[in-house]
Amino acid sequence: MEQEEPKISEGLKGVYITKSSICKVDGEKGKLYFRGYSIESLAKNSTYEEVCYLLLYGKLPTRSELDDFTYKLREERDLPKETLRLIKKLAEKTDPNDLTRTAISSLSVLDKETTDNSKEANIQRSIKLISKTASIVGAISRYRTRKRYVKPDMNMTHAQNILYMISGKRPLDKASKLMDTMLILHAEHSTNASTFATLVTASTLAGIYSAVTAGVSALKGPLHGGADEAALEMMKEIGDPNNTEKFIEDELSKKERVMGFGHRVYKTYDPRARILKEYLENLQNDSNDEVKKLTQIAMRAEKLMVEKLGASHGIWPNVDFFAGPIYTWLGIPHEIFDPIFAASRMVGWCAHTIEYLDNNVLFRPLEEYIGKEDLEYIPINNRV
Ligand code: CMC
Repeated sequence: MEQEEPKISEGLKGVYITKSSICKVDGEKGKLYFRGYSIESLAKNSTYEEVCYLLLYGKLPTRSELDDFTYKLREERDLPKETLRLIKKLAEKTDPNDLTRTAISSLSVLDKETTDNSKEANIQRSIKLISKTASIVGAISRYRTRKRYVKPDMNMTHAQNILYMISGKRPLDKASKLMDTMLILHAEHSTNASTFATLVTASTLAGIYSAVTAGVSALKGPLHGGADEAALEMMKEIGDPNNTEKFIEDELSKKERVMGFGHRVYKTYDPRARILKEYLENLQNDSNDEVKKLTQIAMRAEKLMVEKLGASHGIWPNVDFFAGPIYTWLGIPHEIFDPIFAASRMVGWCAHTIEYLDNNVLFRPLEEYIGKEDLEYIPINNRV
């Protein structure tokens, strides 16, 4: 009997791997929901702490549940001394994304019971991971430029504390609110590459630390979480807003990808990019010359890309395009963008791990072998 030709879905395009009630990405309508709530309503009305609760527990918290959860998150801000020492030793000579991954991996040092995969144990670990990843970002951003470590402040919100640990100064309310929104927008996004990597690792029952370390490793690449930094670098290279159109046209004629555009699922405007565009426009009266220039470049590049590739090719701005100028306004150096993304997304990776383990099936896809078979083994001295 002739064997059926295997059907290969490269990059798992269009393949469903599980059922989930965490996040819906509607790529046709440009809608995004976390546990049924639209991203627009969460960005407008919620806080990062509340969104973390929603993603982990599946419902919005009551006042006392949120207070309790917030308290637990704050209590977990300090880093183990081993992790802090590691960051201090490596920060000046290690890529911040690589060091974020290594430091997150080291957090298992706190945990004596890493084989306990129960939901309760993993929720407690998720709280630690969310909180401590933010402190890791703070520590890396200080030590990499030989600055004094700023200890976390237990009285600040999650967003305020990250900005405080990076800059050493108490942030203004406007900056804290904007940072909080950035964290919410990046908190979760269904089975993208990093979440899938997390699930593959979780499915071996390797434990949540290994799972999220796989996630943060996958996030780094410029096709995924590294795109915001790459998009900002492009804006800086354009330099003068009047160069924007020529630069983009040249890139497209060379068949280069313009970072911050295109998405595997959204074939229309990414709703997160729409929110960020509006935020960036609203910052203009309160921006320095650098951010003003970056904004003009971003707006001109977006207009041209949408005209050229939007409706015709389904290539629209994604969440990473406007993020760079906003982080710049917040005083966050571009090397720290991806670590910040990891800190925001930690909750999504954790929520997916917990959900998947409820009905775990080991990931073990197939590949079509196209190599040779039954070759004769030739001793090394007889080979030519
Ligand atoms: N600029 C120019 N052309 C593009 C772009 C882009 N940003 N994205 C896709 N294309 C073209 C691509 O060259 C290809 O053309 P052709 O068919 O002529 O070879 C066609 O569109 C399809 O590309 P693909 O890579 O097969 O499509 P995909 O759906 O797998 O791509 C993507 C998704 C994100 C990898 C891709 O759009 C891309 O490389 N974008 C730039 C990187 C980026 O912004 N990544 C962030 C993604 S969103 C946030 C996140 O997940 O972290």
